[in-house]
Amino acid sequence: MNFEAVLAGLPDAVIAVDTELRVVFWNSAAEVLAERSARRAEGRLLKEVFPGDASIVRRLAETLASGESRSEAEALIERADRREVPVSLVTAALFGKDGNVGGAVAVLRDLSRIRQLEAEVRRGETLASAGRMAVGLAHEIRNPLGAIRGAVQLLARELASEPRLTEYTTVLTSEVDRVNRIIEMLLNLARPVPVRPVPLNLHQLLERVALLTEEGARDKRIAIVRRYDPSLPPILGDEDRLVQVFHNLVRNAMDAMKPGGTLTLATKVSLNPLFGKMDLGGGGARTMVEAHVIDEGSGIPAAARAKIFDPFFTTKDHGLGLGLAICHQILEQHRGAIHVDSEEGRGTTVTCFLPIAR
Ligand SMILES: Nc1ncnc2c1ncn2[C@@H]1O[C@H](COP(=O)(O)OP(=O)(O)O)[C@@H](O)[C@H]1O
Ligand SMILES: [Mg+2]
Repeated sequence: MNFEAVLAGLPDAVIAVDTELRVVFWNSAAEVLAERSARRAEGRLLKEVFPGDASIVRRLAETLASGESRSEAEALIERADRREVPVSLVTAALFGKDGNVGGAVAVLRDLSRIRQLEAEVRRGETLASAGRMAVGLAHEIRNPLGAIRGAVQLLARELASEPRLTEYTTVLTSEVDRVNRIIEMLLNLARPVPVRPVPLNLHQLLERVALLTEEGARDKRIAIVRRYDPSLPPILGDEDRLVQVFHNLVRNAMDAMKPGGTLTLATKVSLNPLFGKMDLGGGGARTMVEAHVIDEGSGIPAAARAKIFDPFFTTKDHGLGLGLAICHQILEQHRGAIHVDSEEGRGTTVTCFLPIAR
């Protein structure tokens, strides 16, 4: 039995050190997790590979000193690009023939995918409960609002000869209409319009969105770059609803950017291990495509990242905070997914996963 080959092929990262905390073994899952090759890790001190105060360094040192195992349900590992990945961590001592501690091993499991799935589920639940509340509220508000609108129209007719006053009735009407539109959106969130998916050319759809965006982009001197995969298969989607999704995403991207940057629309067949294949019901997994909206904007601060899909979460003076909640819902109706990757100060990439038409 070749134990080294077994360890090398394990899906969990395995890192072994000698008594000096020098890396003596680093399997391929560790290469993927830490984004560092075995060649660049083996032979080096662990605290040259990770920060000296990292959990993995501390726990392995404790295990070497005590001969006892240590575990952490959720620790963080810093990658070469300084991004942190949540992991579970277990250490154990390796004993030599003389019975003394001759080294230690750490086994790390990447928790980021599980965390992503949990976030997806939580997001759906928040939306559902906000939606239920919205329905109740909307019914209470819609009727009085209708009465107000009617009364304002009567008033406008009475005041037709006084242009100074009809200015006020015009403002009243347009504000009442704005509140009505917000309520419409809320009701849609609570009781979504059913989607009617048909085979679609995703690039034509994105071009429709680009056309809607052109003027705003020109005003802000933002260049729209296309990086379309020419061999992309047709997707299964509801055109109007998806235009709404990408329109929201592109608007957010432009809102986040200073004049002069580039906004990229990109597509490809997904190879994502988590969302690259999805079950649409009726058995069998379907291949997904990815559509990316990439901006060079302000990015999303880490503290806001968990909230951006919540209804009414906005950082804008005149924002409603419903855009991403609606995008999430529409993608869920398509049995797809939406995923946001952002780096503060550098920009944001939003990825939509959509099923191919087969
Ligand atoms: N591309 C982006 N870049 C930076 N921040 C973003 C981006 N997209 C969304 N956000 C953040 O998420 C929040 C919620 O977005 P959204 O649901 O579309 O509502 P709104 O655009 O009305 O604020 C925004 O206020 C902003 O803080
Ligand atoms: Mg928005």
